[in-house]
Amino acid sequence: MITAREVIQKKRDREALTQQEIASFIRGYTSSQIADYQVAAWLMAVYLNGMTLDETRSLTREMRDSGTVLNLSSIGGQKIDKHSTGGVGDKTSMMVAPIAAACGVTVPMITGRALGHTGGTLDKLESIPGFNARPSPERILEILKSAGAVIMGQTDDLAPADRRIYALRDVTATVESIPLITASILSKKLAEGLDGLVMDVKTGSGAFMPTLKLATALSRSIVDVCRAMKTKIVVLITDMEQPLGRAIGNALEIRECIEFLNGRTPEDLETVTIALAAHMIRLGGLARSIDHASKLACEAVSTGEAAKRFRQIIAAQGGDERVMDNLDLLPRAANTQAFRTATTGFVVRCDAKSLGLASNALGAGRNRVEDSIDPAVGIYLEKKPGDRVLKGDVLCQIHWNDKNRLTRALPLIEQAFEVKARPARRRPLIHAILKG
Ligand code: URA
Repeated sequence: MITAREVIQKKRDREALTQQEIASFIRGYTSSQIADYQVAAWLMAVYLNGMTLDETRSLTREMRDSGTVLNLSSIGGQKIDKHSTGGVGDKTSMMVAPIAAACGVTVPMITGRALGHTGGTLDKLESIPGFNARPSPERILEILKSAGAVIMGQTDDLAPADRRIYALRDVTATVESIPLITASILSKKLAEGLDGLVMDVKTGSGAFMPTLKLATALSRSIVDVCRAMKTKIVVLITDMEQPLGRAIGNALEIRECIEFLNGRTPEDLETVTIALAAHMIRLGGLARSIDHASKLACEAVSTGEAAKRFRQIIAAQGGDERVMDNLDLLPRAANTQAFRTATTGFVVRCDAKSLGLASNALGAGRNRVEDSIDPAVGIYLEKKPGDRVLKGDVLCQIHWNDKNRLTRALPLIEQAFEVKARPARRRPLIHAILKG
């Protein structure tokens, strides 16, 4: 049998590893036969020399099978999830899950928490009083049967190899590797027992893959591995140069989602949400074409069916469903402060990363996994790129609870906005769509 040292050496020397070699390395690590420092050396070799498609597929499979793979065969219909690489104001999960469920798709959605400048769906949902992001396995099946969708956190036994490897990547500067990101994301998603996946790969300042070139390379890798693993896949590369929608921060984003499902639809949020939901509906075999699927998704919102589903999901997961009728039941910051423009002109920049960092500085996110968050604070954008403004107009409202935190957030908000005499060219909301 090949030793860990030989696996590291092969990758160092740019040789491709076989499926057995990757399996023995990952299994050796999860059973503590292989040390962290050996895996760290191997990760750097992968970071520098890359992986072939076969290697990435073998790594994904091994990481998926390092823990429980959900068996949802007792639930009828196609099981389709949506996953985003993460962004600022990216709240589409809370809307696409009920929309797709209202159209007949089964959505077993496993999602994460805020880290860095990006928000986390679980933290947002937990701003709904009583919401339980960790239902028991039996309860997950019941919720899927009754509401058609469940939105929950990752359990300890789902792809545990990824959790350990990700922690090592984080401290060895090996996160930004396309094969490692592909295997990390897909091992967790494929452990959900899915028939198909819609990926939202974000690009722009607030994204993990800031350039379109990197986002496209990651998207291709995800499509190729899903195809090789016989899972239906569509990847939408969407814009994250500016925040999606107007709200940034946990309860503020839930408020915007409920308003959306109740019929108030901010432009960019609607375009991206309906596109993602439509691809889920189409992958689930519930529409003739993507146009038909988009029409079904829009109808699910306009008839109130999607709002009804979201209410069911909240109630089934222990949350206070009355938030759907009374937004004042959501946490509210003690103070708001208007941030105004000092010049007249057009908003040309509203930088996602700076605003994500500002929202974190207010207390909406975390810098370390163990940090606690303030669900009420955040930023509401009154103006976005393309809007005309007069000197003194409000660009955004800051919802804050702690004066020191406000002081740290203000310079970041200041640097996020740019107002010029002429409007800038608009970036597309959806840059590309790749299919498996
Ligand atoms: N998200 C993941 O789950 N893993 C990565 O490696 C990057 C983003």
